[in-house]
Amino acid sequence: MQIDIITIFPKMFDPVLNESIIKRAQAKKKVKIIVHDLREFTLNKHRKVDDRPFGGGSGMVLCAEPIFRAVKKISSGARGKGQGARTKVILLCPQGKKFDQKIARGLSKNKHLILICGHYEGVDERVRQNLVDEEISIGDYVLTGGELPAMVMVDAVVRLIPGVLGDKNSLNFESFEGNLLEYPQYTRPAQFMGMNVPQLLLSGDHNKIELWRKKEALERTRKRRPDLLLKTKKIVR
Ligand SMILES: C[S@@+](CC[C@H](N)C(=O)[O-])C[C@H]1O[C@@H](n2cnc3c(N)ncnc32)[C@H](O)[C@@H]1O
Repeated sequence: MQIDIITIFPKMFDPVLNESIIKRAQAKKKVKIIVHDLREFTLNKHRKVDDRPFGGGSGMVLCAEPIFRAVKKISSGARGKGQGARTKVILLCPQGKKFDQKIARGLSKNKHLILICGHYEGVDERVRQNLVDEEISIGDYVLTGGELPAMVMVDAVVRLIPGVLGDKNSLNFESFEGNLLEYPQYTRPAQFMGMNVPQLLLSGDHNKIELWRKKEALERTRKRRPDLLLKTKKIVR
């Protein structure tokens, strides 16, 4: 998979892309992530990429011209590698579809994503209307820019690419897979400050442990996120 990110603050991505699992995924060539400075694509001689909104009002709006040019250039480059037809262009936007595990899983199957990070008051409406395949929000709050949302998306998507996480099972039993929250996890020591690990987990009986985990996951979901249970057709009563 290739992920291209268009932003006016490319340096913001350095720490996130160069640590931990995301860094290893790139080293293992499971994903190629390229961060582009939007200013590199403008024809404006002062590298200006924003302007005042027509009709008045506060703040600045990112211009359509550099964004269109960036997407065109990036997708034609990717097309050379046989990816162009499957390029999905996503605008990070508080008005978009709310990001969740299902969307992350769907996106992890794409060959090529282009993420556009807005800033200031947002982007020229013509970008939404004519360039973007999907608008995605990471929640009902407004951030200063699309950079943090893009990082959230990249993290959630990349770890779902086959081979990125070492243990295949660590994906299967995670929260939101099958609309359940994950069961409680414990590690050594079995006793800590008078608090004990449930005895069953120390028994070595894998069938019983699996059953316990399913029950706990269900109970937890019922208590904390009953809305998730309504989403699944297999409601266990
Ligand atoms: C200050 S926001 C613009 C908000 C816009 N004026 C509005 O009211 O819808 C600037 C940029 O941050 C990003 N952004 C802010 N909140 C976001 C969220 N919850 N999810 C995704 N992107 C967000 C978007 O890229 C947006 O263009």
